Amino acid sequence: MKRKLIAMGVLGSILLLGAVNWSACTARKTATSSTGEVAPEKPAEVPPAVPAFIAEIQEKVKGKENLPAEEVFENIEILKGMPAGKVLPIMRMGFSKGLGVKCSHCHEFGDWASESKPAKQVARDMWVMTGKINQELLAKIPNLESENPAVNCTTCHRGEVKPALSME
Ligand code: HEC
Ligand code: HEC
Repeated sequence: MKRKLIAMGVLGSILLLGAVNWSACTARKTATSSTGEVAPEKPAEVPPAVPAFIAEIQEKVKGKENLPAEEVFENIEILKGMPAGKVLPIMRMGFSKGLGVKCSHCHEFGDWASESKPAKQVARDMWVMTGKINQELLAKIPNLESENPAVNCTTCHRGEVKPALSME
């Protein structure tokens, strides 16, 4: 059980690290128009979310950042054992930004514990799939460059709901 929790913590960190690195790249990108003009650099896009709702969640977590997520939130399955303070960053950077969607793709705004949107359960299944790829498949491939090679939501989704199957 303990090993499982550690594995999840590692996966959470991978999720975030991957998303943060990726967002750093997009933030630096400058658009070039067809006439070759370089458009002014756009500010890094914050995942779309209603600030009041975010503040409400931050308030709920305040002082309980290191408690297990399931002790602070109502309906936690995959993030059990994850520090509560990591839940919102995973939602924003890993899930919303990784898929290029708003919170409302998986939630009714404000009713976060609800299971009304099927995409929420898909995200849980994707989390489990990602963990299996990393721990059971990728980890067994010899001669890879990285010491701990990993995929996360961004690896496949790259800011899109539907991952690409070919180069455009
Ligand atoms: C791709 C789907 C997806 C997106 C997008 C998403 N979430 Fe989540 N969210 C989930 C899943 C899945 C869970 C349940 C996690 C679990 O089972 O441990 C969850 C749980 C939560 C919880 C805990 C609710 C509770 O009390 O149980 C909060 C709060 C939350 N999300 C906020 C947000 C916010 C804010 C955003 C936008 C910045 C967001 N989520 C975007 C899938 C998503
Ligand atoms: C190995 C590649 C891969 C990884 C890693 C991956 N996904 Fe997916 N995801 C897919 C594919 C393929 C689909 C199906 C798209 C389709 O319908 O053709 C999908 C679909 C989804 C959908 C349903 C899209 C919709 O219409 O709402 C959600 C939600 C989702 N993924 C969330 C996640 C989350 C969250 C993570 C990280 C925990 C993740 N995915 C990691 C490949 C991946």
